[in-house]
Amino acid sequence: MSAQETCLIVGAITGIGKETAELLAKKGWHVVVTGRSQGKGNKVVETITRDGGSASFHPVDVTSQESVAALHKHIPETHGRLDAAVNNAGMSSTFQPFHATPVENMGLMYNVNLKGTFYCMQEQLKMMLKQEKQDDAGKRGVTINMSSMSGLIGVPYAAPYSSTKHASTALKYAAEGIFIPAIAPGDIDSGMYVLEESYEGGAYTREQAAAMHPLNRIGTCADVAKAVAFLLENDFITGGVISVDGGISAR
Ligand SMILES: NC(=O)c1ccc[n+]([C@@H]2O[C@H](COP(=O)([O-])OP(=O)(O)OC[C@H]3O[C@@H](n4cnc5c(N)ncnc54)[C@H](OP(=O)(O)O)[C@@H]3O)[C@@H](O)[C@H]2O)c1
Repeated sequence: MSAQETCLIVGAITGIGKETAELLAKKGWHVVVTGRSQGKGNKVVETITRDGGSASFHPVDVTSQESVAALHKHIPETHGRLDAAVNNAGMSSTFQPFHATPVENMGLMYNVNLKGTFYCMQEQLKMMLKQEKQDDAGKRGVTINMSSMSGLIGVPYAAPYSSTKHASTALKYAAEGIFIPAIAPGDIDSGMYVLEESYEGGAYTREQAAAMHPLNRIGTCADVAKAVAFLLENDFITGGVISVDGGISAR
């Protein structure tokens, strides 16, 4: 691939997003690292560039439509075109029985996971529709949404989170050369706060979480990052959801 190809990773400061940024940079992409913390974002960029990759940081809070619009305005101004985007920013509140979930937790998950992804996808599609189709596959761009196994099946104590991860993709854009697959990770050892809290005496321990997966382990951020890289290289996957879940959804 050409060194100029740009991939925006929304929520790339920690966990899956950070690992994905590092892997794509190794594969020759310029990655735009984003998140709410400039200081932490700069550190991710420093690591990538120290390892010979190309990266830059731009702040974003996906709960603000203005902030998302400013980020996406910056991309064509600075990089010319947006070849790919990974909508990875997301959060979950504590694992709780449905009736005990505080309403404000539901609002937070709705704003980040659902509305945040909606704002990002709208900006990405508007931008990609203006771009020329490229290569034999006629791609204008790829937008990958980070869903979850909770977006495909029920997960105990995670019903409100699950509802925010069921958002589907828009096949309408296949003919326009915009590919929109999604990834549904299982339990991933990303350091995500709600999981760490659970492992330390919450809804389920690390061992119980591992045992839910037929492969009997929790996934790694690298497992998911490799799926992103695969989707970006593929020319015949759109509108589908790739499970990266150790077999959990096939049980
Ligand atoms: N870990 C799992 O088991 C698992 C399983 C299935 C799906 N997922 C999904 O995978 C994605 C990445 O999660 P992760 O496990 O890597 O956890 P993580 O380390 O907590 O990553 C979440 C990322 O989203 C960013 N983010 C949160 N709220 C944001 C906001 N308002 N604006 C901009 N960025 C925001 C965070 O940045 P800040 O540092 O600014 O908070 C962070 O970089 C999420 O969408 C999650 O739902 C995770």
